[in-house]
Amino acid sequence: IQHFFQPGRLQDQRVLITAGPTFEAIDAVRGITNLSSGKMGFAIAKAASEAGAEVTLISGPVCLAPPPVKKLIRITSATEMLAAVENESKHCDIFISVAAVADYRPAISHAQKLKKSDDHWTLALVPNPDILQYVANLPNPPFCVGFAAETNDIEKHATAKRRKKNLPLLVANLAQEAIGADENTLILFDDHGKHTLPRAPKITQARRLIEHIASLYQA
Ligand code: CTP
Ligand code: CA
Repeated sequence: IQHFFQPGRLQDQRVLITAGPTFEAIDAVRGITNLSSGKMGFAIAKAASEAGAEVTLISGPVCLAPPPVKKLIRITSATEMLAAVENESKHCDIFISVAAVADYRPAISHAQKLKKSDDHWTLALVPNPDILQYVANLPNPPFCVGFAAETNDIEKHATAKRRKKNLPLLVANLAQEAIGADENTLILFDDHGKHTLPRAPKITQARRLIEHIASLYQA
């Protein structure tokens, strides 16, 4: 760990992290979701704890052992994730938004199981709140880090996203290489430009990222 950051690099800093997908119910047994294993968010939570931070992790449905954090909150939908973030962001210094939040949810969620038929079915969707945007727009926002999984034109999309959400740091990766994998390549976009963290296990990337965040945050 010393190889990545000095012990206590984020000592007593309050770090809030969202991870995993959200699941938006259609009925009691069906729903829409995003591809996300939660591995990167959980690795970042572990690395932040190693750096001495007080970590709160808000996670969607994932099949991973919990990392060593001060507080773990499990949620299912984007609406629930936002409610948890609204509470927890009041007392945090750094917010790292790793979750793959579903951009839409069904307009109606049925408590009972719907029966299938032979007809076409059109599902009405309504937009979910943008959780990162909510935090970044708070009157006194924490240091906000966004993530972007893109399939193409990474630099163009990442730069536009960073500007739109007004973020000091946006971390981009290639969706088809990163989702569910144990290793990835990260490209960091900040006020100084572009910085690549070459392909490595997610825990290594997480520790490198925590060092980068600490250096920007404490600058
Ligand atoms: N995000 C969020 N809440 C949402 C959607 C996204 O907090 N409802 C956060 C993600 O956690 C990520 C960042 O916003 O840190 C970018 O998410 P991404 O899906 O890449 O971008 P979008 O703004 O949703 O745009 P699009 O999906 O069209 O690329
Ligand atoms: Ca999205």
